[in-house]
Amino acid sequence: MITIIASTNRKKSGAKQFASYYQQKLQSMTQEEVHLLALEDIAHDWFHPDMYSPEKQSPTLRALQEQFILPASKFVFVVPEYNGGFPGVLKLFIDAISIYKYRDSFQGKKAALVGIATGRAGNLRGMEHLTGILNHLGIIVLPNRLPISSIEKLLDAQGQLIDQATRAAIDTQLSEFLLF
Ligand SMILES: Cc1cc2nc3c(=O)[nH]c(=O)nc-3n(C[C@H](O)[C@H](O)[C@H](O)COP(=O)(O)O)c2cc1C
Repeated sequence: MITIIASTNRKKSGAKQFASYYQQKLQSMTQEEVHLLALEDIAHDWFHPDMYSPEKQSPTLRALQEQFILPASKFVFVVPEYNGGFPGVLKLFIDAISIYKYRDSFQGKKAALVGIATGRAGNLRGMEHLTGILNHLGIIVLPNRLPISSIEKLLDAQGQLIDQATRAAIDTQLSEFLLF
């Protein structure tokens, strides 16, 4: 199973639009189940001091971990650039789930990273930082990390990805990811 994580809790995010595209595309390329976990769609009842206690942790967060993290062998992180890095809520989410079944959640798994930005850097710095953290957790990162810049020029009015060069780059990345 592959889980795609839209890595911000900002409502109607560009990250979720790109993550949905990735889900459809990837599902058309593999028999494996491909699931989408959008942080903007989940409950936020786990941001409190008890988040570090396995016994007191939010049951909704635990259910998400059981559904989307533990059974996954691979992850795709679609990561918007926030202030030159990745969104803090993603690190908070990783920290929160890391206190329960750490090894089974992360160790030996694989990930692809996609950076999206309205600016020109495509979140290169955020993907670099996230790679270090994922490696620390025991997750191997696909070398082809895809920076997508100036995203507003790549989408139509309905939010569909219409830029052919970007679609081709995503095809290449996903082909490599399935062989990874
Ligand atoms: C808090 C915040 C900080 C941002 N900082 C940057 C930035 O440093 N560089 C950049 O190119 N875009 C920045 N953006 C724009 C996002 O990268 C852009 O909207 C992103 O590609 C899609 O974000 P979304 O998933 O929240 O819609 C920022 C957006 C927010 C909400």
